[in-house]
Amino acid sequence: MTRVVLTGDRPTGRLHLGHYVGSLKQRLKIQEEKSFKQYVMVADQQALTDNYEDARKVAENVFEVVMDYIAIGLDPSRTTFFVQSQIPEISELTCYFLNLVSLSRLKRNPTVKTEIDQKGYGDSVSVGFLSYPVSQAADITILKAEIVPVGEDQLPMIEQTNEIVRRFNRIYSCDCLKEAQPLLGAVPRLIGIDGKAKASKSLGNAIMLSDEPQEIKRKVSAMYTDPNHLRVSDPGQVEGNVVFAYLDAFHSDKELVASLKAHYKRGGLGDSTLKEILNSVLQEFIGPIREVRTSLQHQLIREVIHAGIDQTRKVAAQTIAEVRDAMGLVY
Ligand code: TRP
Repeated sequence: MTRVVLTGDRPTGRLHLGHYVGSLKQRLKIQEEKSFKQYVMVADQQALTDNYEDARKVAENVFEVVMDYIAIGLDPSRTTFFVQSQIPEISELTCYFLNLVSLSRLKRNPTVKTEIDQKGYGDSVSVGFLSYPVSQAADITILKAEIVPVGEDQLPMIEQTNEIVRRFNRIYSCDCLKEAQPLLGAVPRLIGIDGKAKASKSLGNAIMLSDEPQEIKRKVSAMYTDPNHLRVSDPGQVEGNVVFAYLDAFHSDKELVASLKAHYKRGGLGDSTLKEILNSVLQEFIGPIREVRTSLQHQLIREVIHAGIDQTRKVAAQTIAEVRDAMGLVY
């Protein structure tokens, strides 16, 4: 039996090295597993919950994100990409689910709570935003996904999904919906070049998978290191040093990185030497990705998206038929 794996991204911009370390790399591995069927969803409806005024921008970013997927090696013949808004069955299922979740339960979701605070929505939070975890539950269950690789912040969504699944199956006396299991990535979030927060496009502290060579170089030079490492001969600190965080994540020679760390701690290894090493590692990593990306034609991306939507709708139609049947909505 193959098991369905689902991941998703909000199309709020091109993808960066943080996405690569945090999820894309794991997706490449899952793609190789014969016992998994992988779906990757571009969550445009979810992105709209806090970007509804920029709907066109969100739509443009759907293409950008799919280009990033293909450029890093996700293969549309093995991994199915689809766009959330193009699967009407998800919206229908969301509608049935909304009756099964209380307002107070939605307000308790720790991830949504933090987002509402960060965005300063307060009591004016929209119903769409507050209830996006319900729509996410529909994303997951429409495909009967059993495994959902996520970061820590997404655990409340899986919990909410499984609560809905249990309630639905009980109320409508069926077992048409399946509970999902989170799969936590082993890799911690990648830090931004400023060393202050995780890499994020909106904070401008991320290296994009499509950055030009000059841009990569500029960002590496700007990386936060050890502010007390003033002279090359001074002993330096490795913890909190962004250059080492990136070397750990992207240098293939772990022994060399260990010896660089020891040298840096002892003193005698300058930041600029270290940054040159990192720069060439990142140029080598991003170069081929950027090349594939620029060679991709818009028409090809459209075809990939449409093929993925067709495949996904076949599965979604089956689930929604079972759901309607269980609820007696058969006319
Ligand atoms: N909430 C996820 C994020 O912000 C994106 C997402 C939407 C998702 N639907 C999903 C992830 C379903 C996994 C499964 O990253």
